[in-house]
Amino acid sequence: LRERWLGRVAEAADEAALEEVRIAALGKKGEITLRMRELGGMAPEERLRVAPVLNALRDELAAAIAARRAAFRDAALEARLREEWIDVSLPARPRRAGTIHPVSQVTEEIVLIFAEMGFAVAEGPQVEDDWHNFDALNIAPDHPARQEHDTFYMARAAGDARPPHVLRTHTSPVQIRAMQERGAPLRVIAPGRVFRADYDQTHSPMFHQVEGLAIDRDVTMAQLKWTLEEFLKAFFEVEAIDLRFRASHFPFTEPSAEVDMRCSWKDGVLKVGEGDGWMEILGSGMVHPRVLTAAGLDPAQWQGFAFGMGIDRLAMLKYGIPDLRAFFESDLRWLRHYGFGA
Ligand code: PHE
Repeated sequence: LRERWLGRVAEAADEAALEEVRIAALGKKGEITLRMRELGGMAPEERLRVAPVLNALRDELAAAIAARRAAFRDAALEARLREEWIDVSLPARPRRAGTIHPVSQVTEEIVLIFAEMGFAVAEGPQVEDDWHNFDALNIAPDHPARQEHDTFYMARAAGDARPPHVLRTHTSPVQIRAMQERGAPLRVIAPGRVFRADYDQTHSPMFHQVEGLAIDRDVTMAQLKWTLEEFLKAFFEVEAIDLRFRASHFPFTEPSAEVDMRCSWKDGVLKVGEGDGWMEILGSGMVHPRVLTAAGLDPAQWQGFAFGMGIDRLAMLKYGIPDLRAFFESDLRWLRHYGFGA
């Protein structure tokens, strides 16, 4: 009996076959089990002789089955390990990662430079009410600047009680919101999208500006000039810069100045700070007293300077990009050509 069952355990080809052997020997109706049940009907001396032998056989068989099952499991694991190995020395498949869009990158550069000068970032809505976009900035309803801005007006249903809204034509309304929300003194820049109905090589109906505003008790135009010089030197990564303040007019600043930067073009490469060319780069001025009043500040106590410039234009100059519209076409070949797309 012993030889036969140990032989069958040894012959079982896999775990399933082994389980069949176990049931046939040790299951409820297994041969060994039935033999043990017969012990009850035996004479006492015979039972004393047979019982220990059967018990030992049952334990030996159970142990043999368990050992064989463990061997099957080890072998299966080994086979799996052999099959599922990974060659960690293989070179990785090339994967293209996304990169930052040039406009986002330039915005980040600008924010960082101004952050070092103590300017916080302020924001306002792109759909703006006409009071913030125009009236509060001293642009009255009949002011010609309203036409010059080629404004996109939001459609209005008859009887709409809300004030007229526009797609903001510049970031200057954020000046008003920042003064209303934060009071004075104040130093903020406001980068963001602006909209004008205009489209050619240097105009896109959506483009980006960054507004700057500093309000304090004794703000002067000299501080405006210093701030812009420091910013432009850092942005264009040059030691020296030469700026020309040209008298100009904006309704929300008085006096107002457009700022040109000395530069030269050599073989399509812009050199900043040298040469005999001038490039207009921004509008600026001292905050008009009426703007301070509209935003809830007393012009007898506070003065400020403000400036606004085109982020896309700065990006074009810094990276030698000729067509503004390409920024907004999402052409990966173009982005890669300028080193931005991966
Ligand atoms: N908002 C003006 C523009 O869009 C720029 C500007 C900002 C001028 C702040 C002066 C002061 O052209």
